[in-house]
Amino acid sequence: PSQHKRSFYGKAQVQSTFPTRNSFSHKGKHGKGLVIGGASTMPGSVGLTSRAALRGGAGLLTLATVPSVIQALASSTLEATYISLQDLNGYILDVKGLDLSYDGIAIGMGMGRHEEAVQVLQKVLQKASCPVVIDADGLYALEKDTSILDDRDGPSILTPHPGEMAHLLGVSIPELLSKPFAYTRSFAEKHHVFIVLKGAFTIITNPEGEQWVTDTGNPGLAKGGSGDALSGILLAYIMQDQTIGDALCNGTWIHGYTAELLTAERHSEHDLLANDIIEGLAQTYRTLS
Ligand code: APR
Ligand code: MG
Repeated sequence: PSQHKRSFYGKAQVQSTFPTRNSFSHKGKHGKGLVIGGASTMPGSVGLTSRAALRGGAGLLTLATVPSVIQALASSTLEATYISLQDLNGYILDVKGLDLSYDGIAIGMGMGRHEEAVQVLQKVLQKASCPVVIDADGLYALEKDTSILDDRDGPSILTPHPGEMAHLLGVSIPELLSKPFAYTRSFAEKHHVFIVLKGAFTIITNPEGEQWVTDTGNPGLAKGGSGDALSGILLAYIMQDQTIGDALCNGTWIHGYTAELLTAERHSEHDLLANDIIEGLAQTYRTLS
């Protein structure tokens, strides 16, 4: 056997680790989450992440974004609260004065690849002590200086697709995919982070280098927005009563399984949208319990 622990994560693992909601629980017990991202041309990204976090089970959800995104989402995402950030040409300019005392944060979806995004990410990682999920343009901003991961107080969770992971490592996508376990493990151990390397198979790695594989999902998920929905689900789960490793495995498994349930019934791989996954969580939760 390999000296590195690697296991398959399936339905049985989900059923034995997925937390139940106590009859006497209240919203404070289910986590106060913050989503940071969005730009005037990408309002849907953080809308999906926020709604996925709420459907995923977060107790409270706040979205910090530019004013135009708030305008676009406020009437449809009623359960969230909003913080208006200073913007420049429709992109987040600064997070000055933003309170970061939350139970979990997800940053980067639809944020854009402008210069100021690097500062935004760095400030959040330095000041926040809770678990932070870094996705999409947040990963792009991270490329500039991965050492900011090294002296964080709280856990960092990176959710790259192979293109984003290859960029972070400075290798080609085929090279990464020739040794995906080894590459992600070395990055996770070096920077002491969790990594969710997404794809038809998703590899979850913890900072100690332990790895799990989930195989749920189908090509219905190969569509813009599914990653944003996953980030929201993961944000919700890292705030519930389970380890971060279990939260990430449960989140990726449930995201994919929901796609399978939906394409077997009222949807197909062709028409499935990220929002259907979010709405479809209801069916998955009912199936699991
Ligand atoms: N089988 C199973 N799961 C799949 C499949 C498949 N064939 N294809 C995609 N998925 C899942 C992945 O595992 C992941 O959870 O769908 C999700 C896709 O996530 P992303 O690749 O991050 O996609 P998303 O962010 O929604 O959209 C692409 O990302 O890098 C940016 O600029 C890029 O705008 C683009 C966006
Ligand atoms: Mg993505």
